[in-house]
Amino acid sequence: MSRILLAIETSCDETAVAVLRGHKDVLGHRIATQAEIHAPYGGVVPEVASRNHLAILPRLVRTTLADAGLEIAGIDAFAATTGPGLAAALLVGASAAKGLALGAGKPFLAVNHIEGHMLSPFFGEARIAPHLALVVSGGHTLLFDVREYGDYRLLGRTRDDAAGEAFDKVAKLLGLGYPGGAEVDRLARDGNPDRFDFPRSMLDSKDLDFSFSGLKTSVRYFLEKRPSATVDLPDVCASFQEAVVDVLVGKSLAAARQCGHSLIGISGGVSTNRRLGEKLEQACVKAGRVWRAAPPELRADNALMIAYAASHRVDRASPITSDVRPNFDPAAFIAGSC
Ligand code: KG4
Ligand code: ZN
Repeated sequence: MSRILLAIETSCDETAVAVLRGHKDVLGHRIATQAEIHAPYGGVVPEVASRNHLAILPRLVRTTLADAGLEIAGIDAFAATTGPGLAAALLVGASAAKGLALGAGKPFLAVNHIEGHMLSPFFGEARIAPHLALVVSGGHTLLFDVREYGDYRLLGRTRDDAAGEAFDKVAKLLGLGYPGGAEVDRLARDGNPDRFDFPRSMLDSKDLDFSFSGLKTSVRYFLEKRPSATVDLPDVCASFQEAVVDVLVGKSLAAARQCGHSLIGISGGVSTNRRLGEKLEQACVKAGRVWRAAPPELRADNALMIAYAASHRVDRASPITSDVRPNFDPAAFIAGSC
């Protein structure tokens, strides 16, 4: 019989709980965002995030269990994100899941946040098909060669800012709110992507790494020279976005070619970007490849992706003493060890 998992995600500013049966039966799925609390600071304040996780989580666990029509005793294993993310924020979710597991006498499963994002395009499926994975979020820009569940090889990563971070920093320069990626995407829909020429850093480099801090600086210099550019806001947004998207698409296709993958999976908050979807589709059609993203509600941080990642290894419990790992450690990035 399919096992029932309760998963908790608190790596950044989203407090999320999900209850999943097997790989696809969603029994409960709740996300409480703290975005408005952090917006006045122009970024996530770690201590504020962890205090709010602590305040929100007990109620969220109860409501999600009620949605599922279950009591704690009906859960077969408890999973939580244990890294990467903000240490104090991770500790809240991981400690809660461990406490629930200990109290109920059930296994605890530590899940890597990146693995959660990376597998999310396959949500509901029992098998992870071989593919090239692009994980693009506020904290990470990573390319992986995925052979099957648990067999991952890191191919490239950003050397400085993540793609989502570049969106957020440029949004800030343009006086848009935080996090501003979605707003840049929205404004860009009415803009001309060819109006301003921003750099496509490392697009032609031999490796599969990224760099986005030069692009952000170039937008800053551009705005300093042309204070009136804010009146061309849609064109600035569209031109900046085009530069990010060209690099993400170019590198993903190059990586897929190198590894011989016909399938590309994209995940993380930036995978919501409309232009990224359009240009990836065009490039895939041209190169005879296909791509897929997670269902829209699984693209930003959520606990369902954590439950889904854990659903592939319910029999392999993590030590209850396993610690949180705030930093992304490629060497330790294998299924079952964060
Ligand atoms: O995956 P996520 O929710 O959290 C992290 O793990 O970081 O990603 C959040 C990031 C933010 O930088 C946000 O600005 C960006 O995703 N984002 C977008 C869009 N929607 C969210 N960036 C570009 N276009 C969007 N439509
Ligand atoms: Zn994330």
